[in-house]
Amino acid sequence: MMKIFSKKKHKKGFNRSIDDLQTKINEKEIEEHNDYIVELLQNPKNWGIPSDKEISVSQAFTGPCGDTMKLFLKIKDGIIEKANFVTDGCGASVATASQTTQLIEGKSLDYAEKLKPIDIDEALKGLPEDHKHCAELAIKTLRRLINKYKDKI
Ligand code: FES
Repeated sequence: MMKIFSKKKHKKGFNRSIDDLQTKINEKEIEEHNDYIVELLQNPKNWGIPSDKEISVSQAFTGPCGDTMKLFLKIKDGIIEKANFVTDGCGASVATASQTTQLIEGKSLDYAEKLKPIDIDEALKGLPEDHKHCAELAIKTLRRLINKYKDKI
């Protein structure tokens, strides 16, 4: 499977900076993604680990491809006030996580719980065929996070 970023495992991958992300973008592989996704890859919104006071719940999940995503949500009265992510995965995983956080910020947990991989794919104006599954990683991580939060409250 083609990767936009070289594979780095979890701790190192989670700590990589935006500059590090951008330097690893392979021009040939960028051609496989639409302009919207490329823009998101170059300027991923909500990347990074927030401060403890900005985290109500966090959850990491590793998909069958071996890539791990971690989401962080600040929730108040059932509304997601802030959403962040990190991932050691492919470029599409950066785009799907970033898009997911943008879709759920300011929305209710009920809304977030109902999101499906196709919603992320459509919001991204179409992932390449061999990266459709990357949206599943984002949604599976999100659902595990919401279940964890519900168990906690
Ligand atoms: Fe694993 Fe994209 S290949 S999330």
